[in-house]
Amino acid sequence: MVPPRPCVHLEWPGKGPDPADPGPTPALEVARPGHPACMLIQGDNLHALRALRARAPSSFALVYLDPPFFTKRQHHLVRRQLDRASGEIIRGVVPAFDDRWEGLDQYLSALRARLVVARDLVTPDGSLVVHVDPKTSHYVKVLGDEVFGPDCFASEIIWRYRRWPSKTPNFQRVHDVLLRYVRDATVAPRFRQLYEPLAPSTIATWGDRRQRAVVDDLGRRRRSSTVEEATPGTPLGDVWEIGIVAPVARERTGYPTQKPEALLSRLLEACTHPGDLVLDPCAGSGTTLVVATKLGRRVVGIDESAAALEITRRRLRGLGVHPLEERVVFRTRALAG
Ligand SMILES: C[S@@+](CC[C@H](N)C(=O)[O-])C[C@H]1O[C@@H](n2cnc3c(N)ncnc32)[C@H](O)[C@@H]1O
Repeated sequence: MVPPRPCVHLEWPGKGPDPADPGPTPALEVARPGHPACMLIQGDNLHALRALRARAPSSFALVYLDPPFFTKRQHHLVRRQLDRASGEIIRGVVPAFDDRWEGLDQYLSALRARLVVARDLVTPDGSLVVHVDPKTSHYVKVLGDEVFGPDCFASEIIWRYRRWPSKTPNFQRVHDVLLRYVRDATVAPRFRQLYEPLAPSTIATWGDRRQRAVVDDLGRRRRSSTVEEATPGTPLGDVWEIGIVAPVARERTGYPTQKPEALLSRLLEACTHPGDLVLDPCAGSGTTLVVATKLGRRVVGIDESAAALEITRRRLRGLGVHPLEERVVFRTRALAG
């Protein structure tokens, strides 16, 4: 594996040295037996990532990291329950996760520590996708170049969605940013080409048959010819129009920042094969675990929020899956006589 070569670095107050080896390595122990192809770890993801690195380095074809977005607020989960006595639906609100920070420097330090360890978990042909928003994506991109090496930057995917307009003297923010890094730029990446439908204007001009370029003796494209075979569409671009999880959607759990299954399906189908291992260190409501299970991938999710894990378990139970549950432990070495 080629180590990242020095490149432009991002500096911030209190950045500190490379956090790759911060003290004793934690371990994992089984808290509840279940299905080993689907694993759930409760605890701080930095400890859990380090424990996984000791157990299974370079094993995950895809790490999808959807951290808190530096919103500077506490996020709540909205629960709706039937009150048996009155027959009414009662709406309850419980804390889900805390996204308050002392400042951007603390946020970036926390993210960097996790990126450094998560990188070691990716297979040589695998990738890591970090999901952020435009408030921090420019910092995270430089940070990603630093941790992986600039040659490992693979794509910036813009997830464009529609939502209820907010009152703001600015353009509406209607996109998130997903930055994809490959583990090793010298290895052919694990990638399956996906397609999107042809534009109506393309179909009107060229029809729905596959086009083949006709080149001259010097290899220059001169014209296209149409072959009999139907076209699969146009290779998928890096701007994805996918709806957010609507309030009335069946998949909606009430967990704040829940991502749509369609987004994760696309990512997993492009970056992994059936049977591959997928890791989500910020599992939240368990969208990645659900999608991975449906697509026949093996998956590990980590979260420190009890509310998140409860929802994830419930969603997985709906698929007939009871995940193997683990927790992080620190073993203290017994003192010699
Ligand atoms: C943006 S949400 C993830 C949402 C998820 N992708 C979904 O579809 O529901 C971020 C999650 O990271 C978790 N988290 C934040 N810091 C953590 C930490 N240090 N260790 C473990 N989990 C953490 C939060 O509890 C929260 O559930």
